Amino acid sequence: MDAIKALGQIEEQREFNFSAQDFKYIQDFMLRETGISLSERKNSMVYGRLARRLRRTGIDNFPDYFARVESDIDERVAFINALTTNKTQFFREKHHFDYLAQTMVPQWQQQNKKRIRIWSAGCSTGEEPYTIASTLASCGLLSGGYDCKILATDLDTQVLEVAQNGTYGIEATKVIPENILRYGFIRGKGQKQELLKVKPSVRQAITFKQLNLTAHWPHKGPLDAIFCRNVMIYFEKDMQQQLIYRFWEKLGSGGILFIGHSESIGQMGNRFENLGQTMFRKLIACIHSGLKSEQSLCMHKILELTGCPIGAGARRFFHPGKQMMMVKIQPGEVYVTSERELISTGLGSCISACVWDPFIELGGMNHFMLPFGDADDIAGWDPTQWRSNAARYGNYAMELLINTMIQQGAIKSRLRVKLFGGGMVMGKHANIGEKNIQFIRNYVKDEGLTLVGEDLGSEFPRKVVFDPMTGKAWVKKLRGYRGEVEVEERNYKRRLVNEAKRDDGESAELF
Ligand SMILES: C[S@@+](CC[C@H](N)C(=O)[O-])C[C@H]1O[C@@H](n2cnc3c(N)ncnc32)[C@H](O)[C@@H]1O
Repeated sequence: MDAIKALGQIEEQREFNFSAQDFKYIQDFMLRETGISLSERKNSMVYGRLARRLRRTGIDNFPDYFARVESDIDERVAFINALTTNKTQFFREKHHFDYLAQTMVPQWQQQNKKRIRIWSAGCSTGEEPYTIASTLASCGLLSGGYDCKILATDLDTQVLEVAQNGTYGIEATKVIPENILRYGFIRGKGQKQELLKVKPSVRQAITFKQLNLTAHWPHKGPLDAIFCRNVMIYFEKDMQQQLIYRFWEKLGSGGILFIGHSESIGQMGNRFENLGQTMFRKLIACIHSGLKSEQSLCMHKILELTGCPIGAGARRFFHPGKQMMMVKIQPGEVYVTSERELISTGLGSCISACVWDPFIELGGMNHFMLPFGDADDIAGWDPTQWRSNAARYGNYAMELLINTMIQQGAIKSRLRVKLFGGGMVMGKHANIGEKNIQFIRNYVKDEGLTLVGEDLGSEFPRKVVFDPMTGKAWVKKLRGYRGEVEVEERNYKRRLVNEAKRDDGESAELF
């Protein structure tokens, strides 16, 4: 009772009348304009921060103040600035920067990657981007021919001013490890000896900009890393999911998203590999083409299955011979990438289309076959049966590859195609390989795609390795050894046929 009375007294003592309607106006405004969701618990905090604005502007009630916010752009900015929470510090969640220095940088160096792009989204007063930049400086990435840039953005213009200045009290910099402090900061002299300033070489790597995460993002991808930490926590669930989807789009393949310790990526989990400790690696497009037993071949359901977790350790590995990372895909998968890496697969009667856009150096590979029930099905099918389940599945596998590439910036008329597979490896009578070949040749012709090479047919399985940036492909016929490829394909065929049988006949326009 006493506590309630005490609260009532505080409310009464407020300098300005602050009604439930006023609070609702602020909640709606912030949600609409910034994505920030203010719960009832924030009522006193909101009042306290805005009361200062009322005093500053000489306005004595909230409705009049809101009218000013609506009509005066400067006050609108000050209003939003007042309600953002800007708590930050150097080396906050230190394991993120350890991962950057100890795992990401060595990988980039191994790949001879010189162009690095990182975004600190919601950078507050600059501690986060300066931590990133000084870590990179300590690894030698701000010199020596690297093109390393960090974009640091925030909604709040006041914190950006502090960030741009790059001067911090000695207390704030105590958490910076000694070796990194040396690379990133200069101690003030005389009266300024309690201050540290960021070194110009580190400062130059960063571009600060005002940007509302819920609005349009003018900058281009692909990015190697995005730090968006302790920002989404203020947003509603739907907004968080939208944001993570947009981050996923902006990251290059294999790019890393860092989020705050009390944040999660929710349903977007199937598009990232969880590296632990709130670090997520983008899976650009290792996409299962509909092979989950509880799903039918129905196209819209297949689409929901996108984003299979390619075990980075198991199926993405460094190939010492080619001196590049190599990703192995399996039957029913699609992989698209703009990284300097190779894609490989083993083919029996299945087809792999290797497609690339030479202009933007993006490419991908799929691995599929048409699902036929039995020998009669196979014998009776021809490419004019484009409405059949078999053709629908083939179309899907091709469209998934091509549309994923288009989403990443490829242009259809620029695409180049190489085709592989279609061997007679499932027994001489089961001429699935031949039907697969008929399908893919017909598809490429009908779609007006530019075919620049093929290695189709024959009675041997083959291993294909494809360089998605240059379009180069290597084929090895597996004359003496067909075991693994054949087993994988037989399993895949069995699953596909089961799926096809279960198809409930629903049809969906996909593309
Ligand atoms: C708590 S700070 C986090 C700073 C830093 N990322 C860290 O983890 O130390 C949150 C920052 O997000 C910014 N922010 C909030 N809503 C935003 C929005 N819609 N667009 C851009 N930045 C926003 C705030 O201004 C604030 O500076």
